[in-house]
Amino acid sequence: MDHILNAKWITYPKNVGEAVCEFRKTVDISKKVVSATLQATAQGVYIVYINGERVGNDILTPGWTDFRFRVLYQTYDVTDMITEKTVITAELAQGWRMHKTKGWFERPMKGTNKAFIASIAITYDDGTEDIIYTDNTWTTCLSATRYSDIYNGETYDADFNDDNYLPAKIVTCAYSTEAEEEMVVKGIEYPTDILCKHEGEFVREKERFDPLSVFTTPNGETVIDFGQNLSGYVEFSIKGEKGHKASIRYFEELDKDGNVYVENLRSAKTTVTYYCDGERRTFKPKFTFFGYRYIHLIDWPEEVKAENFVSIAIYSDMKRTGYFECSDKDVNRLFENVVWGQRSNFVDIPTDCPQRDERRGWTGDAQVFIRTASLIYDTERFFRKWLHDLSYGQSADGGVPHVVPNSDWIDNGAMGWADAATICPWQIYQAYGSKWVLAEQFSSMRKWVDYMRNHSIDGLWLGGGHFADWLNLDGDTPTSKPYLQNAYFIYSTSLLIKIGNILGIEMSEYEQCLEKTQKAFRARFMKDGKIVENTQTSCAEALYFGFLTEEETKSVSEQLNTLVTECGHLKTGFLGTPYLLHALSDNGYVKTAYDLLLRHEFPGWLYSVDNGATTIWEHWDSRNPDGSMWSAEMNSFNHYAYGSVAEWLIEKAAGITHDEEHAGFSHIIFKPVTDERLTFVKASLDTRYGKAASEWTKEADGYKYTFTVPAGVTATVIIDGKTTEIGEGTHTF
Ligand code: BGC
Repeated sequence: MDHILNAKWITYPKNVGEAVCEFRKTVDISKKVVSATLQATAQGVYIVYINGERVGNDILTPGWTDFRFRVLYQTYDVTDMITEKTVITAELAQGWRMHKTKGWFERPMKGTNKAFIASIAITYDDGTEDIIYTDNTWTTCLSATRYSDIYNGETYDADFNDDNYLPAKIVTCAYSTEAEEEMVVKGIEYPTDILCKHEGEFVREKERFDPLSVFTTPNGETVIDFGQNLSGYVEFSIKGEKGHKASIRYFEELDKDGNVYVENLRSAKTTVTYYCDGERRTFKPKFTFFGYRYIHLIDWPEEVKAENFVSIAIYSDMKRTGYFECSDKDVNRLFENVVWGQRSNFVDIPTDCPQRDERRGWTGDAQVFIRTASLIYDTERFFRKWLHDLSYGQSADGGVPHVVPNSDWIDNGAMGWADAATICPWQIYQAYGSKWVLAEQFSSMRKWVDYMRNHSIDGLWLGGGHFADWLNLDGDTPTSKPYLQNAYFIYSTSLLIKIGNILGIEMSEYEQCLEKTQKAFRARFMKDGKIVENTQTSCAEALYFGFLTEEETKSVSEQLNTLVTECGHLKTGFLGTPYLLHALSDNGYVKTAYDLLLRHEFPGWLYSVDNGATTIWEHWDSRNPDGSMWSAEMNSFNHYAYGSVAEWLIEKAAGITHDEEHAGFSHIIFKPVTDERLTFVKASLDTRYGKAASEWTKEADGYKYTFTVPAGVTATVIIDGKTTEIGEGTHTF
């Protein structure tokens, strides 16, 4: 029974901005408790305590959803925490709900005040029940956390104690007038109608890192290096005179002279400020997080000792499934960097980056990385939640927002970004066989394809605002927007048709639409079997999207191989990169694919590894060879898009590949591609059926292959064009 639906939203009587407030209720319990269940959520982020003890170990609940439409509530069994006199307290911070960042993102989430709502249902051994609801019998005061903001950080005053308890105010609407109007237009009721059961994965504390070094920079700054870029915060022990103000600035990289570099964080202040109270205390922030490897200690009140600091990674608590290793330690570090890119950017939603004043659910980034992400971790619950918000955020004409949760964005419908609507459910289905995700998302994806269809003339979709092959290196002749638009139009329509067929939905009108677009595409963008736009991305997409004839495939892959070998490196941006190595190695150009993978110079994946990266950079040259930065404007050192190469490592280098016809690895294709520069490659996947593994080693007389097939699953092995069918168990070739 979801009692929270009958509770009231409560808040501090006046808007206290970024200050954190507390709510309190004391309950006398006179009978024996059999069970007690807490349900809670917030317009903001919250923590509940019972008799001073924290309920659960989830961070940043209720997470980030499209708050215009839904707020998720969490349910906890608190039976063991109830005592004769039970004191329930809750802390409430603004979290993602009302943050205001400067510059491009200076559009606050709509809303004027944060609010909390909860119920506790207590069942006694005589069969009776008490239900406690948030209402104006709760009291409220200000927390010792005087300031909290996702981007800017937190301020804590150890000496602050607000004993001015006021009655909590019941709120019927936490929205501004403008947003209320918008909700009325959309027919949305407030407040409890937007409460939904929790979805997704909980964000939790994961790995802990002790300092690698404590040092003073040439500029005299005291810095700690934890050795790993991640999302999280530092727990520290501190003792200073009462009222002493100490601060920590979180940052990703040192500049070329070895000093603190914060320019790439843009307006995000990423600072924890701590006011001491004369006692030794251990502290960590509770309602914010940072993307960082280093911290800068400002006005630290005592000698800085490494043992007083630990860096804690936080991310959505998904099950790890995919592993990769080979004989090249740099490629292994690259894979590890991809894993950290995923961890850092899977904090409740898939974000572009975790450090600067952005950290948004950019649909394009998620779309290019989802296949990789779903091999490395089990992402089904994580993406299912995010995809629900994607559907909520779609405009009436089917336009998919650039960022999800959408919240406040007006523009939508960008090629390669909006296609997250079709590509993401398809990839989740491919990884886990989850047909229900296809069914849930079908109307959203159909709306997106209809959008393109309705905006097309004679089969071609033209116009609109697009990011194109974002951050490509083609100079003055990048892949054109019309080309990419229509390549994605074809791809998304073909996925929609496949999905419709799986779900038993009549798809003939889309088949006709696809045929028409393919015809128009060929007429405009192909000549003599080749792509007119002579770029790596244009060829890679056409090959990967699978609509070329056998003959065209041959000539376009030749074209692609020539484009790569002539310049000797990749030139692809966000959209082309995930497909580039597949397009080469699937069509006979295995060596070229490995050449790109193993290249150490800019541009290439190992360039960042050689430069000490512990995550994937936003730009191929986020840092220049002379140590200077690409730019301060838009330069994240933890952006997962180019990490999509890891899917090639598992699927092609190790050769554990999905069989599209048998989703969820219910049938596996083992088709590894070798290169003489590596002496072994191995990978494993914890599929829903059990462990699948592949390994090859270079021996004196050729390659030795070992494949493991989970119980109840069959596999096809393809080596040097020879096909063998195998069943459960471990097989050597
Ligand atoms: C983000 C990208 C995103 C892009 C849109 C950037 O600011 O960091 O990753 O996809 O905007 O082009």
